[in-house]
Amino acid sequence: MGKRLYIKTYGCQMNEYDSSRMADILIPLGYTLSETPADADLVILNTCHIREKAAEKVYSEIGRLRLLKEKRAADGGEMMIAIGGCVAQAQGEEIMRRAPAVDMVFGPQSYQALPELIEQAKLARNGKVSERPAAMDFAAVDKFDRLPEQTSPQGVSAFLTIQEGCDKFCTFCVVPYTRGAEHSRSVAELITEANQIIAHGTAEITLLGQNVNAYAGDDGTGNPASLASLMHELAKIDGLQRIRYTTSHPRDVDDALIAAHADIPKIMPYLHLPVQSGSDRILEAMNRKHTADDYRAIVARLRAARPDLALSSDFIVGFPGETDEDFEATMQLVRDITYGSAYSFKYSPRPGTPASDMDDQVDEDVKSARLRILQDELGRQQKAFNESLVGTVQSVLFERPGRHAGQWVGRSPFMQAVSVDGAEAAGIQAGTLCDVEITGTYANSLAGRLVNLGDTVAAE
Ligand code: SAH
Ligand code: SF4
Ligand code: F3S
Repeated sequence: MGKRLYIKTYGCQMNEYDSSRMADILIPLGYTLSETPADADLVILNTCHIREKAAEKVYSEIGRLRLLKEKRAADGGEMMIAIGGCVAQAQGEEIMRRAPAVDMVFGPQSYQALPELIEQAKLARNGKVSERPAAMDFAAVDKFDRLPEQTSPQGVSAFLTIQEGCDKFCTFCVVPYTRGAEHSRSVAELITEANQIIAHGTAEITLLGQNVNAYAGDDGTGNPASLASLMHELAKIDGLQRIRYTTSHPRDVDDALIAAHADIPKIMPYLHLPVQSGSDRILEAMNRKHTADDYRAIVARLRAARPDLALSSDFIVGFPGETDEDFEATMQLVRDITYGSAYSFKYSPRPGTPASDMDDQVDEDVKSARLRILQDELGRQQKAFNESLVGTVQSVLFERPGRHAGQWVGRSPFMQAVSVDGAEAAGIQAGTLCDVEITGTYANSLAGRLVNLGDTVAAE
């Protein structure tokens, strides 16, 4: 009888990519994916450690799973609980101590060992070995060398991790500790994997890394390739319609990358370029190693290369020592840049990071007040941006049927969901790229109608 696998993913897109690769490892071992933990033989929580609540959520989820596991045991069955991802990397030992129901823990660089970990966990459960398995080493063997081919279809839009880890050590951030040092995959390996997922119906690839523009993979001659040169190679693949990349760091935006936005039409004019703060004092304390004006200058150059470029960013309010003036500098930067969308967070002290020990931690209510002001402004900008598109024609890559009969939903170049009535009758399917006139806006999406149907290109 087949075994059931349930994977719950928290955190960033890299974790989503990792979860799909875990499935690629486990499906050949006889597992099938389940939509619910209730009937699963193996439950994996792929966790995130970036902010406080993330880890709390994991512990309460473990609590719920323990009840399911006990119920299953009472019925004579077995459920295995595995905790992977960044909380496991940071707190694996503690999870094992606090949660005896957990069968194994493993970090983001160790999931290629899942088959062995499962075997060891079975031995531990049967009392044949005393320790439940814990894999939190930063793998000596390259993780990607051990991963099987991408076997499951990834959908119209898929992630591809090209670079992992981080050497930047921003003072607020756990990622360098949970993901380890920067490492880039080779161009040849990435072209092979891109071809595999495109063969399974993917038309849009988002290149992933914590610092994706620090990409320096082997170009085949032993020299490092840049993100720009990798994208030039990927753009040659016929079935690939769209390229995106995230997350990039302002420090690593080079001339070639800016030029690529002008030269490669497949690169979408929407860029997530986190700035965190608009205050030079705070940027320095964060160890971001650029100023607010450096960021303004980069954005100006990117917009000169690609005038329709829309930007997105991450912001942290209430970093230690942030004054009203510092916060106002962030608001000024937001007004100067104008974003298409953005994410903003209250600073959350993370154990082991330098900022958590800094003096002048900001009061929670001050953080909350600043977050509200910032989010109001960012919300206004997003709404204005969405409304500015009404009446324009945008290319939409269709992904799935909509809620109404005959309706399909796709993505604009700027990542907005666009729903189009009557699309099915016009022959739209998953992977169709088509011109759409934007006719209206909803709270979180756009409405549109098909135009130039004669020019419709169906993805290979
Ligand atoms: N590599 C990316 C960020 C990855 S983490 C970059 O350098 O931009 C995603 C976002 O989480 C960050 O951009 C930051 O805004 C937020 N974040 C990270 N650590 C945080 C913390 N301790 N408190 C609040 N927000 C944090
Ligand atoms: Fe974290 Fe900074 Fe690295 Fe981004 S660049 S992952 S914020 S340390
Ligand atoms: Fe979270 Fe780890 Fe990603 S901490 S944001 S899952 S790299």
